Amino acid sequence: MVHVKDVLKSMEYGPAPEGNEHVLAWLEAHKGGFGHFIDGRFTDPSASKSFKVANPADGKPLAQVAHGTAQDIDKAVAAAGRAFKGWSKLPGHERAKYLYAIARNIQKRDRFLAVLETMDNGKPIRETRDIDMPLVARHFYHHAGWAELLESEFPGYRPVGVCGQIIPWNFPLLMLAWKIAPALAAGNTVVLKPAEQTPLTALAFAEICREVGLPAGVVNIVTGEGDTGAALVAHEGVQKIAFTGSTDVGRVIRTATAGSGKKLSLELGGKSPFIVFDDADLDSAVEGLVDAIWFNQGEVCCAGSRLLVQEGIAEKLYAKVRARMETLRVGSPLDKSTDIGAVVSTEQLERITALVAKGKEEGAEVFQPSSIQVPGTGTFFAPTLMTGVEPASTVAVVEIFGPVLVAMTFRTPDEAVALANNTRFGLAASIWSENINRSLDVAARLKAGVIWINATNLFDAAAGFGGYRESGFGREGGREGLYEYLADDGAKAKGKEAAKVALTAAPSPTAQIAAVDAVDRTAKLYIGGKQARPDSGYSYAVLNPSGKQVGLAGLGNRKDVRNAVEAAAKAEGWGAATAHNRAQILYYIAENLSARADEFEARLRAMTGVSKRDAAEEVSLAVRRTFFYAGFADKHDGAVHSTKSRHVTLAMNEPFGIMGLLCPEEAPLLGFVSLVMPAIAAGNRVVAVPSARHPLAATDFYQIIDTSDVPAGVLSIATGNPGELAKTIADHDEIAALWNFNGSVDAALVDKASAGNLKPVWNGGARNWRSTDAQGREFLRRATQVKNIWVPYGE
Ligand code: NAI
Ligand code: MG
Repeated sequence: MVHVKDVLKSMEYGPAPEGNEHVLAWLEAHKGGFGHFIDGRFTDPSASKSFKVANPADGKPLAQVAHGTAQDIDKAVAAAGRAFKGWSKLPGHERAKYLYAIARNIQKRDRFLAVLETMDNGKPIRETRDIDMPLVARHFYHHAGWAELLESEFPGYRPVGVCGQIIPWNFPLLMLAWKIAPALAAGNTVVLKPAEQTPLTALAFAEICREVGLPAGVVNIVTGEGDTGAALVAHEGVQKIAFTGSTDVGRVIRTATAGSGKKLSLELGGKSPFIVFDDADLDSAVEGLVDAIWFNQGEVCCAGSRLLVQEGIAEKLYAKVRARMETLRVGSPLDKSTDIGAVVSTEQLERITALVAKGKEEGAEVFQPSSIQVPGTGTFFAPTLMTGVEPASTVAVVEIFGPVLVAMTFRTPDEAVALANNTRFGLAASIWSENINRSLDVAARLKAGVIWINATNLFDAAAGFGGYRESGFGREGGREGLYEYLADDGAKAKGKEAAKVALTAAPSPTAQIAAVDAVDRTAKLYIGGKQARPDSGYSYAVLNPSGKQVGLAGLGNRKDVRNAVEAAAKAEGWGAATAHNRAQILYYIAENLSARADEFEARLRAMTGVSKRDAAEEVSLAVRRTFFYAGFADKHDGAVHSTKSRHVTLAMNEPFGIMGLLCPEEAPLLGFVSLVMPAIAAGNRVVAVPSARHPLAATDFYQIIDTSDVPAGVLSIATGNPGELAKTIADHDEIAALWNFNGSVDAALVDKASAGNLKPVWNGGARNWRSTDAQGREFLRRATQVKNIWVPYGE
């Protein structure tokens, strides 16, 4: 008797092509080329230089698209600037209706958009249809909600202005949605540049904007290449840049925007670990791997591209993976039974090919399924598994961005964590184990922005997405993503107040810093829980406003900062301590400061010449501010996002690790306390540079720290020239975030130097430190990064 299951084994797949007549007709209607979408109209394509867009699956041309120049960018930014006036003033409810209409229209045209995306990018129709398009619509719906709720949920915040948005080719319409939906919801207007490889769905989206009657200039699309993107980044009329793409270009953009005051979010590359423990459900893990690395041809920033397997099950898992790879189907992206489509471009195919060759050269064993014949035309690459890979080899380190998995083994959970974190990136991670305790323990120890437990590549508009370390900064999606498109309204008002304060202060602090050779009488630096002589061996005179010397402070240098970071690295336990413990220590600090109020008051008077009343007020406010963050330490909660059903998506606020703080020149005690307390309350270890002109309140503070049970290395203080110390801190790869509130420090210099490890920089600007505006959630938010952990439940 013939069994159905035997028939299934020998049955051939029949072709199941998705129809593309609608798309062909649309392309035919635009055979004269596509112009830019500026100020609600398409520009004349014949008036511009243009470039060809082709279907990677067969190499055939699809369209001719305008190459945006600096003039085009200029027009688009001007249109967005004009539109901002009206759009930002619209009630949230009105903006919500537009976003809702966009979502509806995307759904109405979703088959058209899915086919167009597949033809433009080469990804399988099954994915554009079932993943990209539903997520695109979901993003606009979700943000229609935020537009409605903005005023009540984000009091004190305002839209940033004109946003320049640059996106890559791997999820063209989805990345557009991730950028445009939150920007518009928050009341901004945008100029978006799609990737040169895949501009077509963005142009179709522009048509939707017209259909729903979106006011002219709110969304502008300028097509082009890297130079077009660079012109957008450089434009003075742009207040924020949002970029997704390679880490190299992210770094270029960090440098190009340095000192401009433009808000910046970067979503960059990754080399995300996929960790399989020996108690994992291996069959599920294999299916997970298919989604982790063979989804979207592996051209996914958060792809699980590094398989880390516990030694005992490695061979067994590899055998299962190889068997599963044999059943993957590579071929026409428009065929509904295709698993792996075409790589986006010849350039990308060459890059992948070269990296796999390099892996082989470096000793990896390369497996490609024998059943798979890649099509002769088009840019296809067979799914690939590389085993026997050394952790330091090229393919284990660089992002391949193709359907290539590299595998390594580990013995213990500690080793798994060490291997997983052994990367400059930190975008995502996937953990497979039936032991929930172990999974959550590992999740907490991984340095990555998104973590999936027994799952992979889950996305939802309600959860933030974004990386740690060189995977960039900022989040997309959810409440945390909205902050990227909002400015702290208070900051402006605070700035005005603070300007008054600053006027009363003396000229540049650095002018005053002249080395004196009198180390013995000098207030020392405070490093790793001990007073330390400055490495330079020099000090500088601290003068009061009438020019009289009131003391000497150490002239800290690069070496001192390095020592402070080393000490901080050893104090890792601080972030893992309970918030309650940290709160207790902050209370203790406040208590000890209060007990010595007279000394601090006298010091402030002698240094700054303020009245007794003012000095007393500064000390008492410093005590209160410390109390404030002690109280807040266990209340800066994360969230459980409402994403998919039967999932808890935990948004945890995690400390950055080691932070550099450049304290303001004014309010030498209160300014210092206002930065240090939220940073350490949130669990960071800190290297603080106090006011250079008036450093002695901070150096007196050592005694408070010494008597308040603050673990060594949690707070180090380096006095000296703020500009020089700022540069060293910004340069330092182990310092994960930097706040600059010192008006004498060049923001451009700090931004530029921080491009090395892409640390987020908060150039906080002037504040009135005595006001309660100089404290609050904003400081805690800036002292933490959100880690989203997805835990599915059910058996
Ligand atoms: P890319 O970073 O050069 O391109 C991304 C976008 O940036 C495109 O719109 C491009 O036109 C624009 N761009 C390029 N240079 C620019 C500049 N100087 N200023 C402003 N905008 C600029 O990425 P590319 O060359 O397409 O791919 C190279 C590698 O980058 C890939 O192999 C992959 O490893 C990685 N990549 C990562 C992505 C991610 O989602 N994290 C997405 C795309 C690429
Ligand atoms: Mg490039």
